[in-house]
Amino acid sequence: MTETTAKIVTAIPGPKSLELLARRNAAVPRGVSHNTDIFAETAKGALIRDVDGNVFIDFAAGIGVINVGHCADEVVAAIKEQTERYIHTSINVAPYEPYVALAERLNAAAPIDNAKTMFVNSGAEAVENAVKIAKKFTGRTGIVTVDGSFHGRTLLTMSLTTKVKPYKDGFGPFAPDTYKIPCPNVYRNATDLSSDEFALSCAEEFAQMLQISLSPEMVACVIIEPVQGEGGFIPMPVAYLKRMREICSENGIVLIIDEIQSGMARTGTLFAIEQAGIAPDLLTTSKSLAAGLPLSAVIGRADIMDAAQAGGIGGTFAGNPVACAAALAVLDNIEKYDLNAKARKLGEYLTGRLNEMKAKYPVVGDVRGLGAMIGMEFVRDRKTKEPNKEIIGKITANALRHGVIFINAGILSNVIRFLPPLVMTEEQAEYSMDVLDAAIAESL
Ligand SMILES: Cc1ncc(COP(=O)(O)O)c(C=O)c1O
Repeated sequence: MTETTAKIVTAIPGPKSLELLARRNAAVPRGVSHNTDIFAETAKGALIRDVDGNVFIDFAAGIGVINVGHCADEVVAAIKEQTERYIHTSINVAPYEPYVALAERLNAAAPIDNAKTMFVNSGAEAVENAVKIAKKFTGRTGIVTVDGSFHGRTLLTMSLTTKVKPYKDGFGPFAPDTYKIPCPNVYRNATDLSSDEFALSCAEEFAQMLQISLSPEMVACVIIEPVQGEGGFIPMPVAYLKRMREICSENGIVLIIDEIQSGMARTGTLFAIEQAGIAPDLLTTSKSLAAGLPLSAVIGRADIMDAAQAGGIGGTFAGNPVACAAALAVLDNIEKYDLNAKARKLGEYLTGRLNEMKAKYPVVGDVRGLGAMIGMEFVRDRKTKEPNKEIIGKITANALRHGVIFINAGILSNVIRFLPPLVMTEEQAEYSMDVLDAAIAESL
């Protein structure tokens, strides 16, 4: 791709995208939805060119999958090299080195002493396997998740997810023995407590539940996203995470940190939980792990990981060698280009610009995040904080017409999430923020 920034040459969507859209609507069920109607032709770095020749700056990064940039040279080379050797033998039949090498790299990098790692294909599958391992290790069955969380679309992970529409509507009954605890969303703290006190009170509510409505012997694991993703890009306060760690340790509960969206340098460290200074028992990661190839990992304390019996975890395609080769190149790229530092720098720039917009437009209720994982929450009134979800569609459509892809998030569907590829240039970031500013003004 020769362009270095956005370029719009047709109406959006253009005629070729519209043709494909008609074919797509006839051939693909509506349940498989998409945020934009532009069809991709090529992608490189932070840019996507559509089939009509329009070039977009991509703030979705394949929903957090393209932290190292679209088609990073080193990743493409690793994929090509691996496909020429072998594509699949099955880890359960003839194991291969890329799986082992990737496990070794993640064991060394994760904030868990004496770790072991297993691979599956998707985020939901990683959460499913982490729960199975936690159940086997503890001999307990209950699963606790935080209000507002999203953990996937399979029966179990949908049951662990909060938002009914669209994720659960009509898909019940759900898996039993799942429990929700309060979310320390400091923006929506309706008490007189300070942010830290409020966060701690949420953890204490869980401690109380363990005395009253749940007993520790019922609970295998607690799953926490260190920055809630689909829930609205809500960072969990450090005080909360530390207290939850203590409560889990005191009660023999496995603490699973879900870094499927927040991991792989997104927040300025390989895993967001590093910034809280606590060690999870198990950690799930996926999305940017293999830069677009389906791969997910459960990394965890060896004694817990070894609880599952041989053949009890895994799957036919789990830890595919091409995906593992891509992930090894991703880890190299994170180091080679210091993408953690880039995430922090890009995050600072974007947060600064978004806060300028907050000062200008009362519809912006909150700007928050960690590193380059940032959310902007829209409200009708700053006092009542009544969610304004209608404006999100207008803003994202206006921005798309000017060549920038922004997508939404949020339990109340009123958040724009910013997940730029970490290789985004200053020119691209600046242009996109100008477009967003104008798109908000145009949508009021
Ligand atoms: C925190 C978190 N967990 C789990 C998932 C599910 O991942 P997948 O869609 O790959 O199954 C997601 C996806 O958005 C996520 O953000």
